[in-house]
Amino acid sequence: MNPSPSAPAERRSLNSHLYHVSKAPDNLRHLILDISRAAKYISYAIQTTEAGLSGTVNMFGEQQEKLDILSDQLIQEHLQESRLVASFACEEHDSVIELDPKASYSVVFDPLDGSSLVDVNFAIGSIFGIYAGKELIGRKPSEQVAALYVLYGPRTILIYSTGKGVHEFLLNDVGEFILLRENLGIADTAKNYSPGNLRALEDNPGYKQALDQWLKEQLTLRYSGCLVADVHHIFSKGQGIFTNIGGSKYPRGKLRHVFECGPFAYLAEQAGGAASDGKKAIIDLPIEAVDQRCPLIIGSKKEVERVCKMLQ
Ligand code: AHG
Ligand code: MN
Ligand code: MN
Repeated sequence: MNPSPSAPAERRSLNSHLYHVSKAPDNLRHLILDISRAAKYISYAIQTTEAGLSGTVNMFGEQQEKLDILSDQLIQEHLQESRLVASFACEEHDSVIELDPKASYSVVFDPLDGSSLVDVNFAIGSIFGIYAGKELIGRKPSEQVAALYVLYGPRTILIYSTGKGVHEFLLNDVGEFILLRENLGIADTAKNYSPGNLRALEDNPGYKQALDQWLKEQLTLRYSGCLVADVHHIFSKGQGIFTNIGGSKYPRGKLRHVFECGPFAYLAEQAGGAASDGKKAIIDLPIEAVDQRCPLIIGSKKEVERVCKMLQ
């Protein structure tokens, strides 16, 4: 039962907000709710299961944490049971996986982002993008019908957009995601900076110029090593710039286009910010492969533009 539209926004549940405010199609609303339920189980698993490596590696040759595998399984179960998912692409699988070809949506996800930080007890997250239909390869992030992320920190926070603004929810004591803030915005100029992949400074003079500029202008450094936490800092503070740019070790940067850069680019643009690969808006970059990496410069629009100019 959804509270009446007049229910005070501060008590509005995720379901009520999707129904009354975003007016999401029922199937999309149910899919986002199913994903949010998987996130609750992941949040609980992070608190209660032992950390540690699984002994396996993913397609990127990265050691998989036990929680990477568990998070992936929890999300897959919820996607399967939703009966709404035609296919999915996941960081832990090297190809697109088909579920029900007649279903309405396809989902891209990073089940656990920043997972190497589990043992350090830093905030980590899950990232999701939702496309209509079965195809994923060839699609652009601008074609997503929704994007969302969950940040597992001292509090569990969920941020979503279905194309009508970016909205923030808190997981409360009875397991409901309750509205915290609506229509989050990102100002054009940045006071905070989050420079990732600094090893690229060695051979990317434009990146060195950007870093020197941030130091000269005495911007405040905020970097945790978890993309979800570091970019959530931008949404929460309403300004900032996050970069993970290519160098010799990662020529295209370390981050993955389909399930890290694409969903965040959609959300940043929805909040009035920007996300570029240094040359083009990331929302306009077609997905060519699930393992495609992409440089990421995201946050305050004028700062993104300034960094892109330095990188030319
Ligand atoms: P994941 O845990 O899904 O592999 O992602 C980790 C990513 C991202 O969260 C973060 O911004 C980046 O790795 C940090 O890279 P470095 O450890 O090279 O700084
Ligand atoms: Mn990740
Ligand atoms: Mn991951």
